[in-house]
Amino acid sequence: MPALVVVGAQWGDEGKGKIVDLYTPYADLVVRFAGGANAGHTLVVGGEKVILHLIPSGILHQGTRCVVAQGTVLDPEVLLNEISQLSARGVSVEGRLFVSDRAHVVLPQHKLVDGLREAQKGANAIGTTKRGIGPTYEDKVGRRGVRIGDLLRPALLEEKVRANLEAWSPIFEKLGGTLPSVESVVAQYVELGKRLEPYVCDTASIVHTSIQKDEKILLEGAQGTMLDIDHGTYPFVTSSNAVAGGACAGAGIGPTAIQKVIGISKAYATRVGGGPFPTELLDEMGDLLRNAGGEFGSTTGRPRRCGWLDVPALRMAARVNGMSEIALTKLDVLTGLDELKVCVAYELDGEKLLEPPYDGLESVKPIYETLPGWKEDVSGCRKRSELPENAQKYIEAIEKWVGVKVGLVSVGPDRDQTADLVDPF
Ligand code: IMP
Repeated sequence: MPALVVVGAQWGDEGKGKIVDLYTPYADLVVRFAGGANAGHTLVVGGEKVILHLIPSGILHQGTRCVVAQGTVLDPEVLLNEISQLSARGVSVEGRLFVSDRAHVVLPQHKLVDGLREAQKGANAIGTTKRGIGPTYEDKVGRRGVRIGDLLRPALLEEKVRANLEAWSPIFEKLGGTLPSVESVVAQYVELGKRLEPYVCDTASIVHTSIQKDEKILLEGAQGTMLDIDHGTYPFVTSSNAVAGGACAGAGIGPTAIQKVIGISKAYATRVGGGPFPTELLDEMGDLLRNAGGEFGSTTGRPRRCGWLDVPALRMAARVNGMSEIALTKLDVLTGLDELKVCVAYELDGEKLLEPPYDGLESVKPIYETLPGWKEDVSGCRKRSELPENAQKYIEAIEKWVGVKVGLVSVGPDRDQTADLVDPF
């Protein structure tokens, strides 16, 4: 069984990009299975910054093939822009990038309505990335979406775009927005389709062939478990399945192909956008984590909300993902603190809860355990055994409370600033 799933165990931004990048040399195929241009990962290629939202960062390894599968929603302009940015820096994607003909297309009306709705919600806004993700998934489920394959069929595209715009018309009228014309959308997207055509195919077949050849497949999730449409802090969630199970539907494989699930968690917690966040620190400690951890979104630039590690959320993530192990990131950010707090349970109406409740997460009181911090620089440690004693104890406590072992530990942003990196397959 050759497939490994990497998912976010918190609210996204756990550092999946770096971990996928580290595991890519061991993989033959990297598959992005959910989400869209709401995700973002900043890479440095040839000394210059490139932000990838859709193409797996595995593309930087010349021998690796990358798939953007049908569980994703694609903004063709963003995808083509990423391809050009990469090729301008000498990274060719020809023959190595495969884009699903079944993935749904983010259209201009989706981005517009995302923004209009957020503005209308005011203080209750979800804090979406305004990349049109929710409305595109809405059209997919409503069976009025446009798929990438439709971009290569102009007559069919026109029919679908017309029906789609008609469906949005009353909503735009109510929200006071202006819908684009059928003609403008069709003209623009036929052109985009022509440019995308060399990459478009039935990606599930590619993944299947890879499985049959017993190749190693890395399935890359987007966002995090607490933002999952089914398991997250609904309605403050994204619109797709960010959990490991989403890899099956999103990539087009059976659960029997998956041998391992690695959940990525920061050594503390962050969240962008609205919604409950029990361990949030609204004081100087929160600022300290934000500045030390560079906690500003790579897609929207928004400052991230920061807090102590939330074990109940991680426990749930371990359960719903079937997590085999945790990859712990940004441990270095905690260096220098006298003591560290970890939320090990919540209290709600006098009751102790070990996992997030159905509702009331915004009212829970975190129950904290306090552990001693460490002052020694950890960024040079390449083995867990080289970490300061208190850092090792912190990791052991997390393993005990969550009930899942910690494998890899990231101690800095660079590839080599990693402890206990081993072949994950
Ligand atoms: P949407 O996915 O743009 O609809 O946003 C829904 C929620 O998910 C908002 O709170 C976003 O901030 C959050 N979100 C979406 N993508 C990411 C991500 O890649 N990292 C962290 N948060 C995200």
